[in-house]
Amino acid sequence: MIRVFIPLDSFAVALGADEIADELALAITRSDLDATIVRNGSHGLAWLEPLLEVETPEGRIAYGPIEPGEIAGLLKAGFLTGGQHPKRIGDIQKHPYLANQTRLTFRRCGIIDPLSLGDYRDLGGFEGLKRAIAMTPHEIVQEVTDSGLRGRGGAGFPTGVKWKTVLETEADRKYIVVNADEGDSGTFADRMIMEGDPFCLIEGMVIAGLATKATKGFIYTRSEYPVAIRIVEEAIRLAYEAGIIGKSVMGTGPAFDIEMRVGAGAYVCGEETALLESLEGKRGQVRAKPPLPAHKGFMDRPTVINNIISITSVPIILAEGAEQYKNFGTGRSRGTIPIQIAGNVKFGGLYETAFGLTLGEIVDGIGGGTASGRPVRAVQVGGPLGAYFPRELFDTPFDYEAFAARDGLIGHAGLVVFDDSVDMLKQARFAFEFCAIESCGKCTPCRIGAVRGLESVEKIIAGDRPAENIALVEDLCNTMKFGSLCALGGFTPYPVMSAITHFPEDFHGHSQPVREAAE
Ligand SMILES: Cc1cc2nc3c(=O)[nH]c(=O)nc-3n(C[C@H](O)[C@H](O)[C@H](O)COP(=O)(O)O)c2cc1C
Ligand code: SF4
Repeated sequence: MIRVFIPLDSFAVALGADEIADELALAITRSDLDATIVRNGSHGLAWLEPLLEVETPEGRIAYGPIEPGEIAGLLKAGFLTGGQHPKRIGDIQKHPYLANQTRLTFRRCGIIDPLSLGDYRDLGGFEGLKRAIAMTPHEIVQEVTDSGLRGRGGAGFPTGVKWKTVLETEADRKYIVVNADEGDSGTFADRMIMEGDPFCLIEGMVIAGLATKATKGFIYTRSEYPVAIRIVEEAIRLAYEAGIIGKSVMGTGPAFDIEMRVGAGAYVCGEETALLESLEGKRGQVRAKPPLPAHKGFMDRPTVINNIISITSVPIILAEGAEQYKNFGTGRSRGTIPIQIAGNVKFGGLYETAFGLTLGEIVDGIGGGTASGRPVRAVQVGGPLGAYFPRELFDTPFDYEAFAARDGLIGHAGLVVFDDSVDMLKQARFAFEFCAIESCGKCTPCRIGAVRGLESVEKIIAGDRPAENIALVEDLCNTMKFGSLCALGGFTPYPVMSAITHFPEDFHGHSQPVREAAE
């Protein structure tokens, strides 16, 4: 039986993968072909989606991007046996975009059927968990600490330290909460892992439970991720059925339960304490810290809150050892990071690599510059609250400290590329508008500051006393940065101030077209 792989990942589905799968299924039935369809995750080469692969004696041969209506032509060209066709790519693993990556967390993504426990085990699945079951909680925490893993959700806080706090806090119940809210613009790594390798998430959560003596885990995601929700829920059901979770982890460990919860999609619900409020059925508003969630989190019990990529990095750390993981990276940024390249870019997608490539290597080298063919003018790194970096900063290494040193942040490692037609004044306006809309309203600098900031930028756009209004915006940014309760208000100054600092020519009011004059 020939296996044809058609991704069920949202990239591919948005571009017609479901229709293509239906077309092929119909052709298989009608012509009684000896073939079956496997819905896999995406390899992350977004511009080639939907990417079809067929298993042949020479390996998996890829074709892409395929559009609905192309199946008849592909069959005629003999694609079921790897035949020639204008869209034949060959072995996708040899494609430089994939071959040059260091895939630790995403090593199974796109390769396996995400809901096949057999596929998962065949590619190293549950090896980390097996080892963890034989270790004491302190030993597991030490291994994660030694790996140098830092939270991939944005703040880069050491995961081992967080786990140790939860382990050492006495309580009748403890929880693992996976933050899969993924609200940042240009990010899709969390979704991809849920859609492409959900057992890795389950394995990571169980290891976190063993390490901290937590007995229940929640996965919190947003309603905009219907495919991910369906896949993860089915994976949880299969994991229960196989005895991996439930009354006893893998039949020998303690109990561990997992439940998925879906939020309506407010950006602030990605902030860990607002997430907890939402998880408890309340309105998503930020809690003041202390107490830390590690001491008093879900239902006032000690709770690990980790980003999904932090959690899914754990199985391989346990399977192959902390030292192996730590060997990748630079400075205090250890291991690999799934960089998400989006926006106006030629080769957008997910690129997992060790920390340390320069921003320019990522944007120009891997991303291939803009999709429009015009020069790259700015790159926003780290979501809607990240700084805009100009070309002059393209030598910045992708590492938490190097970005911070240049008033930027890595965040969840999402890059959004803009060409030279971008108006940075309008981008500054967008940052304030975003904050005004998404603010939870709890503290004044954010709730009021963003609205006043938006008004001031609109005045600059209208050419109304630009110098005075820029000074007012700078003042507001200072208040928001130092007076906000959480990073939503506290980080809004990053996009605004970076736009003012690096692209001053856009802030002189539209009555003075400085940039156009210079061109
Ligand atoms: C406004 C706001 C939104 C956030 N959104 C997310 C998110 O979508 N996903 C995420 O993992 N962390 C998000 N964070 C960071 C979390 O608060 C928290 O630091 C993280 O989940 C901790 O996990 P980690 O240590 O594994 O990174 C957000 C923070 C803020 C202030
Ligand atoms: S900074 Fe904004 S989002 Fe954060 S607590 Fe204050 S009002 Fe809420």
